[in-house]
Amino acid sequence: CSGSRCSTMYSCLWICLIFAVSLFLLRFFLQENKEQQTEILQQTVQEQINSEISNHLEVFREMQKNSPLLQHANYTLLAGALPQEKKLLTVGISSMQRPQGSYLLDTLQSLFQVSSEAELKSIVVLVHLSDPDPEWLSQTVANISDLFDLHIEARKLLVVHGLLDDSPMRNINQYFSCEELYFRQKVDYALLMNFASNLSDYFLLMDDNIFCTPNFVSSISQALSAWKEFPWVILEFSSLRFSGKVFHSRDLSHLASFFLLFPKNTSAPMLLSRFHLLLAQNVPIHLGPSMFHHMGNYSDLEDTCFPVEKDKVFGEPDNPTAIVVTDMMFILNSVPLYAYVLNEEPYTTLDPEKGNHLTVILDRPQKIIRIVVLTGIDENGMYQLQKGRVLLGYDIMEHSKRCVRYFLLGPLVRGNLDQRVFYDEDSVEKLSCIRLEVSESQQWLVIRQIKVWTDPEDEES
Ligand SMILES: *[C@@H]1O[C@H](CO)[C@@H](O)[C@H](O)[C@H]1NC(C)=O
Ligand SMILES: *[C@@H]1O[C@H](CO)[C@@H](O)[C@H](O)[C@H]1NC(C)=O
Ligand SMILES: *[C@@H]1O[C@H](CO)[C@@H](O)[C@H](O)[C@H]1NC(C)=O
Ligand SMILES: *[C@@H]1O[C@H](CO)[C@@H](O)[C@H](O)[C@H]1NC(C)=O
Ligand SMILES: *[C@@H]1O[C@H](CO)[C@@H](O)[C@H](O)[C@H]1NC(C)=O
Repeated sequence: CSGSRCSTMYSCLWICLIFAVSLFLLRFFLQENKEQQTEILQQTVQEQINSEISNHLEVFREMQKNSPLLQHANYTLLAGALPQEKKLLTVGISSMQRPQGSYLLDTLQSLFQVSSEAELKSIVVLVHLSDPDPEWLSQTVANISDLFDLHIEARKLLVVHGLLDDSPMRNINQYFSCEELYFRQKVDYALLMNFASNLSDYFLLMDDNIFCTPNFVSSISQALSAWKEFPWVILEFSSLRFSGKVFHSRDLSHLASFFLLFPKNTSAPMLLSRFHLLLAQNVPIHLGPSMFHHMGNYSDLEDTCFPVEKDKVFGEPDNPTAIVVTDMMFILNSVPLYAYVLNEEPYTTLDPEKGNHLTVILDRPQKIIRIVVLTGIDENGMYQLQKGRVLLGYDIMEHSKRCVRYFLLGPLVRGNLDQRVFYDEDSVEKLSCIRLEVSESQQWLVIRQIKVWTDPEDEES
């Protein structure tokens, strides 16, 4: 071993030895009744969720009426067969003819290359070819079949062609205005999602010009399992317009209808950015790092009609000054602030219990745009927080240095969290507290680092 890892490991061992002796004594004396405080906090979070759900329920009921257009959708299976059992995840890709050729085959190649056999077992890849040109269709299907024969036979790859009856776009494959492009795209996605709605539990939307990060399937499925007990509508695994957005399959038919409800000149990205609001998810949920990247652009028209997609680049974290409080037993010279100060020292604690917390209380409210929480002695190492969540606190009480309102940011995924922080459009409220909470008792916990990025454009900070 070397460097910081080495010293971390030795200090853990050393602390461990010394502490084994006093452990028994401490355990009995330091036990405090945290139950009540935790209950109040959980209640606040639950109330927040409930009130948001009832606010949006009415609007959503309207959306639930399936679009009559989709009832007459007509699909042709071009290659592959429906999977025999329900999968965890459908990767849905819609592709159309492009004058200068498409990246569809490269996208599929990337997807299958970075996924292991075990990962492929839990997914089905659904390609929707949306162009009416029969020659292009048969050539594309032939090309896909050539390259991915095995995956087609294993029912992991399915190619379909769908049509809305009487679709005015039926015979058009050249677009001259944004309005035409928006409409075509919404119809394509509606057809794709409508078909996918009972193939799996979750649905991942992807463009046909994408590089995938290795083992994205595992990363997404770990996140899905951590998020299982929390409400969400869209989990975003990249900052691209479409690619990397994951939905519950049960929402797909509503989303498909939602796409077709609006006038031609509303774009699909605009609608997507509103859809989560209808189902009571107030701000986007964006998990880092980005797992999907573009391999190329298509047309000038698309560039004109859509805002430029760029992965947000973050520099180094700039943790603003704060105090750190905790109700977890700390060990000898390990102080809670170590978890927050940008140094190599972790904060090590014994036997944290459900409801225990470590809270960063900022000296001044800040507009924070990203938070990373790392636990365990190193990446995938020991003493991670097995089950925990991060809450964002507002309204600090000056005298007691506590935040009054907390909102869920997200659960830890495999002991870590990396999330962007978004703000309601009309709210200018800044954050005052970041609270890491233990959701399940465990032995030993190392909180390695909490990293915070503030908004560089926030004038006052
Ligand atoms: C569905 O589409 C296929 C091929 O495009 C066509 O032959 C068939 O008649 C259509 N079925 C209905 C019910 O519209
Ligand atoms: C199919 O593959 C051939 C040979 O690589 C290529 O020339 C053709 O453009 C491809 N067609 C489509 C529609 O992808
Ligand atoms: C999905 O629904 C269609 C039509 O209702 C049915 O034919 C198909 O078997 C279903 N697929 C799965 C995976 O349940
Ligand atoms: C779409 O068109 C309608 C009427 O044609 C217009 O009122 C509306 O502002 C347009 N919306 C956008 C986003 O361009
Ligand atoms: C795509 O276009 C954007 C802006 O139009 C440009 O910044 C980006 O580099 C292009 N990407 C590729 C891979 O060509």
